[in-house]
Amino acid sequence: MSSIVILGIFVADTAYRAERIPRLGETILGKSFNLSPGGKGSNQAVAAAKAGANAHMITRLGTDTFADMAIDVWQKAGVTPAITQHDNSYTGAACIFIEAETGNNAIIVTPGVAGEIDNSDIDRNADLIANADIFITQLEQPLEVAMYGLELARKKGVRTLLNPAPAADLPDGMLALCDFVTPNETEAEGLTGIKVTSVASATDAAQALRASGAGAAIITLGENGALYHDADTTIHMPAMSSGKVIETTGAGDSFNGSFAAALAEGMTPVDAVKFGCAAAGISVTRAGAANSMPSRAEIDARLAQG
Ligand code: RIB
Ligand code: NA
Repeated sequence: MSSIVILGIFVADTAYRAERIPRLGETILGKSFNLSPGGKGSNQAVAAAKAGANAHMITRLGTDTFADMAIDVWQKAGVTPAITQHDNSYTGAACIFIEAETGNNAIIVTPGVAGEIDNSDIDRNADLIANADIFITQLEQPLEVAMYGLELARKKGVRTLLNPAPAADLPDGMLALCDFVTPNETEAEGLTGIKVTSVASATDAAQALRASGAGAAIITLGENGALYHDADTTIHMPAMSSGKVIETTGAGDSFNGSFAAALAEGMTPVDAVKFGCAAAGISVTRAGAANSMPSRAEIDARLAQG
């Protein structure tokens, strides 16, 4: 089985669904509440494992009930933990406001103990990374550690994927360590200064990311799918709807994890993008982030529908 190593964080998502997102100073009545597993890295690990990869999760947890939630969701999905647990801090949480009508959200994520991840977490897992098919990271744990992990993976000839989320300025040379970089529209604009409002502007942004050293750029476009661009190929993959949108939290993670699983299995990047779009299209029809990741059978069934 192909092996994927993910550096990232787990948090408990506390999701509040309401008619709209409150303004500063305002209290509104909500419609429902959901406590469920989240954190971009963990969501991507769950997505990759459910899509059929052998996924390993490098992170730090506390020793609290949210840590138990992490271990439970990984066990059910088949993610192998490569973690340490610490009783001097807490497992993080995210506060998620969901607009009921559209399923769109606004999020505050607090990494807790995972915010203290440092290079020793990479060093301890150096062999795991060296033997992986793909190394994935995001920007919820300290950025320097993402950089350090990408450097090690690159040195060992392991393919690298950076999901540059949440949006941040990247140090010089970071994109040159990435075989794949996968921002959404806002993150792509932050990285390139190009406002992504169409397939054409997404292509411009993807070109700029390649000019900064990324091997291939994939701009995820929400309900408009994804734009893939490498040295030889530029292709717009429309979104693959699977029904009414309930919650978009984790849709990007669903794409990243399943895209990487497909790639690690040997699919071409373009086929892997399609696979990722099929998975993400299913995930948005369900509540929660990690809990909405589809199984391999569900993704294959959606692809078979065309
Ligand atoms: O990408 C979605 C995730 O971002 C949520 O699960 C939330 O935890 C935030 O980290
Ligand atoms: Na979802």
